[in-house]
Amino acid sequence: MSSAVVAAVAGAVCVWVVVAVLCREFVWRRRRLLGGGGGRKGAAARLPPGSFGWPVVGETLEFVSCAYSPRPEAFVDKRREMHGSAVFRSHLFGSATVVTADAEVSRFVLQSDARAFVPWYPRSLMELMGESSILRRVHGLVGAFFKSSQLKSQVTADMHRRLSSFLSRHHHHDPSSLLRVQDLAKSVVFEILVRGLIGLEAGAEMQQLKQQFQEFIVGLMSLPIKLPGTRLYRSLQAKKRMAKLIQRIIRDKRARRGAAGSPRDAIDVLIGDGSDELTDELISDNMIDLMIPAEDSVPVLITLAVKFLSECPLALHQLEEENMQLKRRKTDMGETLQWTDYMSLPFTQHVITETLRLGNIIGGIMRKAVRDVEVKGHLIPKGWCVFVYFRSVHLDDALYDEPYKFNPWRWKEDMSSGSFTPFGGGQRLCPGLDLARLEASIFLHHLVTSFRWVAEEDHIVNFPTVRLKRGMPIRLTCKEHDDDD
Ligand code: HEM
Repeated sequence: MSSAVVAAVAGAVCVWVVVAVLCREFVWRRRRLLGGGGGRKGAAARLPPGSFGWPVVGETLEFVSCAYSPRPEAFVDKRREMHGSAVFRSHLFGSATVVTADAEVSRFVLQSDARAFVPWYPRSLMELMGESSILRRVHGLVGAFFKSSQLKSQVTADMHRRLSSFLSRHHHHDPSSLLRVQDLAKSVVFEILVRGLIGLEAGAEMQQLKQQFQEFIVGLMSLPIKLPGTRLYRSLQAKKRMAKLIQRIIRDKRARRGAAGSPRDAIDVLIGDGSDELTDELISDNMIDLMIPAEDSVPVLITLAVKFLSECPLALHQLEEENMQLKRRKTDMGETLQWTDYMSLPFTQHVITETLRLGNIIGGIMRKAVRDVEVKGHLIPKGWCVFVYFRSVHLDDALYDEPYKFNPWRWKEDMSSGSFTPFGGGQRLCPGLDLARLEASIFLHHLVTSFRWVAEEDHIVNFPTVRLKRGMPIRLTCKEHDDDD
């Protein structure tokens, strides 16, 4: 077939697709707007205002182009103003979507259970997470373990050891070299997470797991094509290799059971539950699924905090004072720092809270409606997605004075309005939230009590995930040497 014929056929197909989609959308919109949404109970609720944008792509291109800009919330802000509503409809990533920047509607969606909404992720992510993805039983057991005093003590001791040795090694080896906060935080946090989940110590197997995880994670946002050579296929292969290693660890642990005391990691907890449902394969899959939300978010939180502090000397000074006082007090008493000490520092916690608000590490979450849902007079039809956009709520000037300013002092007042949701809410509330705060507190403590730093220019990238473009390069000076200079 000649290229002209191919072009003609392709052109005809495109026109046909566009016409078909337009017709379907037209009929569909009319039916909905005239109140014909099948299964709808009340007559009062209406579809939120808005537009589906272009055929097929909807408003996705504008959403993505805003997401790449320094102000990703511009997409929502513009429509909010245009439609006079913080809840509007759109068409994003191939699905009719209700977007909400309204704190009350967002809270309602977060608090709803699987009878109204189920989680919705891009297809590549669904493929990689597999069918077992985090069982409620695993969530409950592991969530409780993450909150336990025992794990927090272990994490505190581990982080202390790793950070002290890494930072002093880095400094003594080449004091003038640049340190990328994001890389250091990633490396430390991953090892601690893996130890807490599967009990693996630093060494060759840890390195192997790290490598496979990196290979696995890049496929999360890839095209959903599973053929050999594709990104998704390579990620799935990496996942298989990780599962093999983890299943070997589970078998060893099962064989050694009986001698075991209190659980030292999440696998011990799940084996100890004794449920037949929790097979080796299922436990290993769940361990990998648990690594996904945990691996990147805490390092980014730490890196953003260092950036915001570098730009706000007053906050850095107060953080340093608070942490130095604690260090001196503990040294005078001849005691080592416990996890409760790190978490007891109010200003340090305000710095972390403000970093979560301004940084919006998880900008929002997606759900799919499994039935028609009505909220605050809005109809969310069955099969539609809901995009709960935390970022717009966290940067809303009706809720926060000067919302774009890093101001940790704002948290001195009780701001618990329920509209601050960096860790989500309801049944899917992040089980790692205490751990995230603890790890960030320990990292900041070590940095500000032992070092000063000069930060190089860097800026925040918000899409597809939040990160610092250059990894936040800083030059460290050891505080001990201050007097020598
Ligand atoms: C700054 C750090 C973190 C942030 C901002 C964060 C944020 C979130 C958010 C917003 C959700 C809700 C997702 C949804 O509703 O669909 C979530 C869920 C989750 N997070 Fe975190 N997270 C962080 C750290 C961690 C850590 C350290 C762990 C594990 C140790 C973890 C494990 C999880 C898991 C397993 C879920 C899924 C819960 C479920 O679907 O039931 N996260 N996280």
